[in-house]
Amino acid sequence: MRLVIHQDYVRASIWAARYIAERINSYDQNKPFVLGLPTGSSPLGIYREFIKMKKKGTLSFKNVHTFNMDEYIGLPGNHPQSYRFFMTQNLFDHIDIDKKNINIPDGMAKDPKKECILYEEAIEKKGGIELFLGGMGSDGHIAFNEPGSSLASRTRVKTLTEETKIANARFFDGDPKKVPSTAFTVGVGTVMDAREVLIIVSGRSKARALRACVEEGVNHMWTLSCLQMHPKAIIVCDEDATEELKVGTVRYFKDIEKGNINN
Ligand code: GLP
Repeated sequence: MRLVIHQDYVRASIWAARYIAERINSYDQNKPFVLGLPTGSSPLGIYREFIKMKKKGTLSFKNVHTFNMDEYIGLPGNHPQSYRFFMTQNLFDHIDIDKKNINIPDGMAKDPKKECILYEEAIEKKGGIELFLGGMGSDGHIAFNEPGSSLASRTRVKTLTEETKIANARFFDGDPKKVPSTAFTVGVGTVMDAREVLIIVSGRSKARALRACVEEGVNHMWTLSCLQMHPKAIIVCDEDATEELKVGTVRYFKDIEKGNINN
């Protein structure tokens, strides 16, 4: 696993956006590039960069098919707090993606179990996810795979922890009670099946979780620690997020990335 440390969030976001753009641009144009996407504040800097690149003409999403990680249950796609709405506002409306290539679980699906099975099947039909971009919750979760989730899990319905509801309450008038209690989420196993995983982590509120995921062992209580078992995983973060890492760990990863960081 690579840990790429940048001075601040903006630099980390620019690096990650360029990395993904390079992967999309150099991909076989006869095959769709299947990209997994997250919501939350962490990927916003990357999305802003994608939009800039699209405007400049250095990146096109014509050949990109997307699968979002998760969606709140009970919110329709036009609800301002739904993840579909978030994606439309912050990315999809500003790039040249073909709308039929966008996949997000339907928060209003009548048969949630079936929705999960269909989602996994849709990913498989597209040939699997080439690159999964993600963020991390302050308790170390990936997508909505809360502590204790099976590291072999697939797309399913999960109940959100109080910590996650409190963290996400900022989008719901600051009231954790307004945050839906359940969500569709891809599983840890679904993320692990992607051929590459790139996670962006920013800020001190993530430092404790980053330490657990990088310095401790693979553990279902910090589901992002699954990345230690992935053949091609990158965590890109800012200095603030490294606050709880050992000085030696930070030096070690910075040293390894010396030649790569400006590429
Ligand atoms: C939610 C999402 C995750 C996201 C996390 C962190 O729990 N399901 O995919 O990584 O929030 O959000 P933020 O980036 O806003 O800190």
